Amino acid sequence: MKDVEASYQMNLDPKVSRYTADGGVISREEMHKRIKDVIERDYAQYGFGRFAVECKNTHQFIGFTGLKFLPDYDLVDLGYRFAQNFWGKGIATETGKASLDFAYQTLKLKNVYAFALPENGASIRVMEKLGFIFDKTIIDEGILFNQYIHHP
Ligand SMILES: CC(C)(COP(=O)(O)OP(=O)(O)OC[C@H]1O[C@@H](n2cnc3c(N)ncnc32)[C@H](O)[C@@H]1OP(=O)(O)O)[C@@H](O)C(=O)NCCC(=O)NCCS
Repeated sequence: MKDVEASYQMNLDPKVSRYTADGGVISREEMHKRIKDVIERDYAQYGFGRFAVECKNTHQFIGFTGLKFLPDYDLVDLGYRFAQNFWGKGIATETGKASLDFAYQTLKLKNVYAFALPENGASIRVMEKLGFIFDKTIIDEGILFNQYIHHP
């Protein structure tokens, strides 16, 4: 919960939420609710959820990465989002690799999935670098996403 303010500030940036399809700017109260009702609930219910990402030297919160079980699709998804001044440094790739290692070595998952809007070139490039392959397109709440799959 100590990351509510930094998460709120990150999501205020329209470039950060441009392709995230989750409503853009939200209030501090809504961010508090999302962390409590989504991320903390995931840890309580499934034993894992998204990870906060911090700079090693400053412990500053710079974004999130990691896994999320999607009950509607019965699969585990890799997601990531970082404050704009930390883009382009390989952080999504580095933290994505760590999340995949955790998925296979600790959780013993058979596959991990990921979703991106087709126009989100940076996210799709990260998936390619991590070894995801295009699976199919899906429509979720009226929005078309590319679905990718990763094999260990
Ligand atoms: C997508 C995101 C997580 C990438 O994080 P990052 O730490 O910058 O990623 P990396 O540095 O590991 O890799 C980015 C790659 O994308 C490439 N890239 C950047 N913008 C691009 C674009 N518009 N089209 C294609 N490739 C692009 C970079 O050149 C780099 O590839 P390279 O190493 O081959 O040069 C970051 O931009 C972000 O937080 N975006 C906002 C939230 C978001 O869209 N999340 C994903 C939702 S599916």
